[in-house]
Amino acid sequence: MVEETSVRGWTNDEAIRRWAQFPREVLDAMEPDGDFGRRHLLNPALLRMLGDVRGRRILDAGCGHGYLSRMLAARGARVTGVDPAQALYDYATEKEAAQPLGIRYVQADLCRLPDLGGPFDAVVASMVLLDIPDWTGAMQACAGALAPGGLFVFSVNHPCFEQLAPSWREHGEYRVREYFASYEIPGPYGASFHRTLSAYLNELARLGCQLRELAEPALDPATAADAGNGAEAYAHLPNFLVVAALKRR
Ligand SMILES: C[S@@+](CC[C@H](N)C(=O)[O-])C[C@H]1O[C@@H](n2cnc3c(N)ncnc32)[C@H](O)[C@@H]1O
Repeated sequence: MVEETSVRGWTNDEAIRRWAQFPREVLDAMEPDGDFGRRHLLNPALLRMLGDVRGRRILDAGCGHGYLSRMLAARGARVTGVDPAQALYDYATEKEAAQPLGIRYVQADLCRLPDLGGPFDAVVASMVLLDIPDWTGAMQACAGALAPGGLFVFSVNHPCFEQLAPSWREHGEYRVREYFASYEIPGPYGASFHRTLSAYLNELARLGCQLRELAEPALDPATAADAGNGAEAYAHLPNFLVVAALKRR
């Protein structure tokens, strides 16, 4: 069976237009190391998988407002952040101007990357591929930016549990009706799309990347007990899938 690679009717430009309108007041209210899910689930997995980043050239692909770029640069990495959405790019570049960490930001669609002066030792695309209609083109660009043997780390909403907190809030358990089709995942700000787990992993293999680790981070029970708003589900089911792979030499 040929897997569907994009959601019908959506182009990258349309999706980017949604992200471009991300409200400034939400960015201003953000913790330096991201929202609840990032602080408690994603960041520990991403940072562990990336390892010692000192002196390493890292591409933060779809860097958004740049919190991960700043965390990596503060740990000694040489970071390039790429994002096409105006509001997010503006926020990231303003932060860099106010508190320079040596991060270079480039405003671009991953599927139409200018020469970034690569190759990179590592590429991280956290919560990005699910937001791009032409996600296979974006994944190809990430793999293409890597040096041979380089590390590719990406995260997505876990394709099996994409509406975890809302479903838990409503039903006290997780419910899903459709898995195989591509469809838009409802969310407050930008556009996101469902694809299957096998679509992501098979594309990675097709690009010549070898799986190193899959993580499905769990929230510790004490934090989950206090979390509320459906986030207590994160102690029982994985909200995120985090993947680390190596580009073939
Ligand atoms: C959920 S945010 C994640 C941002 C950041 N990585 C983080 O974890 O905070 C998704 C990001 O993907 C970006 N994006 C959407 N389409 C893109 C494209 N075609 N190329 C690169 N980035 C894109 C959006 O602008 C947005 O910043």
